[in-house]
Amino acid sequence: MQEEELSKFFSNGILVDAAIQSAKIGNVDEIIKTLREKNVTFLDQRALHDLYPEAYNNSEYSVEIIKNYAGGTSASKPADWTAYFNDRFNRIKNLLVNKESSGLMSISQAKNMPSGSDVKIIAMVSNVSISPIKKFMIIDIEDNVSSYRAISSTINQDLMQDQVVIIKGKKSKDAIFVNEITFPDIQVRDGKPLEIEDSYALFLSDIHVGSKLFAKEPIEKFIKWINGEIEEYMEIAKLTKFIIITGDLVDGIGVYPDQEKELNITDLKEQYSALYSFLDRIPKHIKILISQGNHDATHIAEPQPRLDAFFGGDLYKLENAVFLSNPYQVNLVVSGHKTNLLGYHGFSITYYVNTISKYNKMTTEDVAAIMKLQLKSRHLAPTHGSTQVIPLTQDYLVIDETPDIYAAGHIHKTLVSKYKETILINASCWQHQTSYQKKYGVDPEVAKVPVVNLKTKESQILDFLGEKVQIYRKGIKA
Ligand SMILES: [Fe+2]
Ligand SMILES: [Fe+2]
Repeated sequence: MQEEELSKFFSNGILVDAAIQSAKIGNVDEIIKTLREKNVTFLDQRALHDLYPEAYNNSEYSVEIIKNYAGGTSASKPADWTAYFNDRFNRIKNLLVNKESSGLMSISQAKNMPSGSDVKIIAMVSNVSISPIKKFMIIDIEDNVSSYRAISSTINQDLMQDQVVIIKGKKSKDAIFVNEITFPDIQVRDGKPLEIEDSYALFLSDIHVGSKLFAKEPIEKFIKWINGEIEEYMEIAKLTKFIIITGDLVDGIGVYPDQEKELNITDLKEQYSALYSFLDRIPKHIKILISQGNHDATHIAEPQPRLDAFFGGDLYKLENAVFLSNPYQVNLVVSGHKTNLLGYHGFSITYYVNTISKYNKMTTEDVAAIMKLQLKSRHLAPTHGSTQVIPLTQDYLVIDETPDIYAAGHIHKTLVSKYKETILINASCWQHQTSYQKKYGVDPEVAKVPVVNLKTKESQILDFLGEKVQIYRKGIKA
């Protein structure tokens, strides 16, 4: 940028980030006009990226945003939590009403019915306990106005606190005797092949750049492969249109005790710059979807905004990247045909691994079961406390639309599975076993890349850890 261009910005009340003062940025008058229209007073990599969003509307394939948290805070006062829970309740209630509307009543209406009546209510589960003697479930429920108790003689292990469900049963004096519980659940998506050419989406997660245990050689192999320099499965590389990265882009700083002993890049900005040097070598026709995780430069509470421009500035130089919140929902569009993708880092998955004993071993089947449970509950963290949340007026963790693909990461394991017609993916990691993982017996599956053909919906997992790129057989298929 020349000096007179720079002073044009200043005289129009726009400050320019030092990092881009040496960049060539095109028509300055045009940019200033647009920035003034948008009331932007600071031009940095991110603002520049926003001005040229090629990634959103490029030719034959593109990314269409459905849900993306754009920021906003909460004072976390009791009224904010009430508004947050009301939004969660109402959103999932509407999904249930669309599914099964006849005969529904509120808890207050059910309470006024004579004993022995059939009742059918939508309620949020406020507590679940199992009677130690008689082995029945005691389900405390509530809606916006009232609360009640339901008793079930069958133990439903999928039922947990804070889910919103339909309870059908017979009313007695002080409780409802449950006949049936209906979960909001997902719809069955159309699994038919799309009328497009073979088009692949690849899933990476948990890259953890900056860690001494970062799997540099495998990622170098991946970069070579995606550039068509490795023969095995080259046709997939050539037909790849999207790469989805679901968080933990870098290892971060101070995320767990003594982490600095396991870092070889101890500056957060430099960690992102190192990631940029890898992603910049991915062919530019491929769209890269980037969202954050608990190791990244943001707050842990969800939803997390898109990548911070101060720390992740270098990445905003990628004209083929789309920066998204965690979680998000988008359409991957190829020749007008859409594939609905739900992306989530997956922090709540570990809560269910730790609290539901049958999932303790964290096998691929266990993780698939937890991801199914999230879809069945239409919420990414059905139990409050399974992840930290910001009490916004909209609960971004509600799964408003049934996705064709639900992709997560975080657990450093890989899987490809299916629930109804929705493909479930966990995208492994690019970090070898840390001391922290060793202590907790977590054996990561490193450098595996789930691949989905958007035309046929067929999926597989490629392995970049060994000498040759090969199919990884451990991921399960339903
Ligand atoms: Fe991770
Ligand atoms: Fe994580």
